[in-house]
Amino acid sequence: MEIIRELKPKEPKPFELFLLADPDLDVIHSYLDHSKCMVLEQNNEIIGTYLLLPTRPHTVELVNIAIKESKQGKGYGKKLVKHAVDKARELGYKIIEVGTGNSSIQQIGLYQKCGFEITGIDKGFFTRHYKDPIYENGIRCKDMVRMKQELYHCFSDSKEANL
Ligand code: COA
Repeated sequence: MEIIRELKPKEPKPFELFLLADPDLDVIHSYLDHSKCMVLEQNNEIIGTYLLLPTRPHTVELVNIAIKESKQGKGYGKKLVKHAVDKARELGYKIIEVGTGNSSIQQIGLYQKCGFEITGIDKGFFTRHYKDPIYENGIRCKDMVRMKQELYHCFSDSKEANL
């Protein structure tokens, strides 16, 4: 059985999953306490996670999404990205953003399949903010590909929550 739910404040945080998406613990700590942490639980085991970080008025960022390595490639990541978009809408946000590395070929595809569009490139983001060089798919990760999606609300009188 699978459920996606918010992690309770007293539960241990799934750092082994966060580290799959972001190799620098200091960077993870810089956004973790300000984020809502959602987890994908399968038969009482947490196999996936994502974080939603409010960044500006009406805007939230999907900052860390990860699926346990042995469960990757089975559709769970796509399920979580779609859940994050729905959750952001449900919380009243108007825009959801995400950023990924120039070397993250699969993720760039995944986010576009889930409705995100590229808005720009933050040149040198990973070389500026990460101590160690990052390589993926044989490519040095240097720049952040910024993406966003506008969240359309069905009802004009929908609640605006905690913005
Ligand atoms: N090679 C290339 N593309 C692949 C792939 C592979 N091995 N596995 C999946 N994909 C693509 C497919 O196009 C798929 O879309 P489709 O269903 O329309 O074909 C899409 O990615 C999503 O696949 P899915 O099975 O849902 O992905 P996943 O469960 O592996 O989750 C990640 C995707 C990125 C969350 C997961 O791989 C992960 O945790 N990676 C490490 C952490 C990370 O990089 N996080 C993102 C930081 S920006």
